[in-house]
Amino acid sequence: MTQRWVRIATTGEVPEDEMVGLNVEGRAIGLYHIGSRIYAAEDVCPHARVLLSKGRFDGKVVECPIHAARFNVVTGRRLSGPVCRDLHTYPVRIEGDAILVDIEAIPLTRAL
Ligand code: FES
Repeated sequence: MTQRWVRIATTGEVPEDEMVGLNVEGRAIGLYHIGSRIYAAEDVCPHARVLLSKGRFDGKVVECPIHAARFNVVTGRRLSGPVCRDLHTYPVRIEGDAILVDIEAIPLTRAL
């Protein structure tokens, strides 16, 4: 599988215990700062395609703002709610203060 690491934010743009939603080349990606690490997952709810970054984030869990589906953003695993699958997650690398994500880890057709 092809890798393509893209700098999508700086660590200063994602404060600890917060999430940030970004559009990266047509992919909606959510960044989550948990402890000393940054995690990335698709930012579109698999149920009705709304942005999870508009919902609530607490600990390792994001909750969809529409029907309250909940996901572990570290693993992508769905925890509850009317969804039929887990979230796709992206590999993350930190270089200096730059956050890089391998955006080819999820093909664009599956990331929309
Ligand atoms: S749109 Fe997210 S749970 Fe329904």
